[in-house]
Amino acid sequence: MTRRDFINSTSASYASLLAWGMLPAAPASAIDLSANGTGSDGKGRKVIILGAGLAGLTAAYELGKLGYDCTLIEARSRSGGRVWTIRNGTKETELGGGAAQTCAFSEGQYYNGGAARIPHHHEITLQYCRELGVPLQIFNGANESAYLYNDGGTGDLANRRMRISDYHNDMRGYTSELLAKALDQSSLDQQLTKEDVEKLVDFLKNEGDLNTAHLYKGTNRRGYKSKSDPGAGNVPGVLTDPYGLTDLLRSGFMQPVFYNVGDYAYEQQTTLLQPVDGMDSIPKAFEKKLAGKIIFNAPVKELRKTENGVRVIYQKDGKPVEISGEFCVCTLPLPMLKSLESDLSGTVKRAADFIPYMKTGKIGLQFKRRFWEEDDGIYGGISRTNMDVNQIWYPSFSLQGKKGVLIGYYNFYSRAEAVGALPVADREKLALEQGGKIHPQYKTEFENSFSLAWHRTPYSGGGWALYDDATRKKYYPALLEPDGNIYFAGEHTTYLTAWMAGAFASARRTVEAIHARVGQYTKK
Ligand code: PHE
Repeated sequence: MTRRDFINSTSASYASLLAWGMLPAAPASAIDLSANGTGSDGKGRKVIILGAGLAGLTAAYELGKLGYDCTLIEARSRSGGRVWTIRNGTKETELGGGAAQTCAFSEGQYYNGGAARIPHHHEITLQYCRELGVPLQIFNGANESAYLYNDGGTGDLANRRMRISDYHNDMRGYTSELLAKALDQSSLDQQLTKEDVEKLVDFLKNEGDLNTAHLYKGTNRRGYKSKSDPGAGNVPGVLTDPYGLTDLLRSGFMQPVFYNVGDYAYEQQTTLLQPVDGMDSIPKAFEKKLAGKIIFNAPVKELRKTENGVRVIYQKDGKPVEISGEFCVCTLPLPMLKSLESDLSGTVKRAADFIPYMKTGKIGLQFKRRFWEEDDGIYGGISRTNMDVNQIWYPSFSLQGKKGVLIGYYNFYSRAEAVGALPVADREKLALEQGGKIHPQYKTEFENSFSLAWHRTPYSGGGWALYDDATRKKYYPALLEPDGNIYFAGEHTTYLTAWMAGAFASARRTVEAIHARVGQYTKK
């Protein structure tokens, strides 16, 4: 009998299995915490969870498996927090005097306003999708057919769109050619043997698709001229010509905003995934498991330590309501903690005050026609520009459908601040004007939009926690320890900030800590 078989066949509780060493301590990555009946060891112990985002939902779900009695207090009328899918009827009014917006997308159209992609190595996220039965599909992140557009440069290649594949293959070609030439002149003889040099030149020939003379003269990797693809009969196709090296060097594409061409960043490497029908499939699946445990439309007003635990006051239907418990799991984003009346210790309050959050925004633009697919052959992926729109994301779902919603901007820092400060109508105008330089079809095909700025979004107040070495050292440790009977969870309590995996991992860590505290589980 394997351990798995034993665990599956026994009626012993999850907690006893933990205690007997039959289950590994919840690891940070891949996990198998499938419930074995209902645990009883946490029974009778009341836990109040602030926030029904992913961290709060996960904590409630896992604590529930162990028999704890959890109540989730959620300020919004929905769960998910920064996991938020924008679709017809979605409403929001932003902080700082924002106008009320209601999404008017057509049936079946949506975009993920917050979390929008799952790296294939975020095992904890994938494990929860598996456990909750949330079906996944490919999120196409890197698309060589998408565009780069450098606005305001002087070179011949500025102020015009360029296919990522053209830039990529030309730069690969020229740099390979230059290195191959240097090697041919035996300039690296001291470091490499003759055989090594030959092998390296072979690599460069392949890497840059150099000709037999080791020169880069363009390559069929760039594809064919418009309307000159290979065809039936006597139609071999006409290859495109490479851009010149000096033109490319003056193009402006070496600015940091154009990095991540292709999928260089670890978190953006193929394969990326997304739930079918929107990222909110994940919180919705949790909600089904937590029926009756979430109190919605209940902003937390006060968080107090008591002799035996915690006391929370939230607002419900205009009236304050008090609730007590033995423990609290506080998943509120730090910007929300700042203004909360509480007995939290000075170190926690300082963490809330001094750990900055990312300013970031998105706009969804609905178009009558999927011109990026029909005219440009772009199926998913991301175009990049130094304009304020920064990134344009093409949907990876409903390909070749009738209409489509693309993400007309995804920006950060000062770009997000500038755009987020605009009234909704002006954000739309800016997205259409700037995006229209890359896609002239915007003008005739646009229907409607819905934009958001996370730093202005009620109950979030920012995209994600932004640490540097100093804030990690100075403020982060306070969030890892319980403050009395109050535990902290959320992406801001991890080294996986800005990812759902952080929310999941933090919840697991907190569940472990509480369970250890009540003496039911010894951490190995
Ligand atoms: N996870 C977010 C995203 O995928 C934020 C992020 C962006 C994190 C880039 C790291 C790098 O967009």
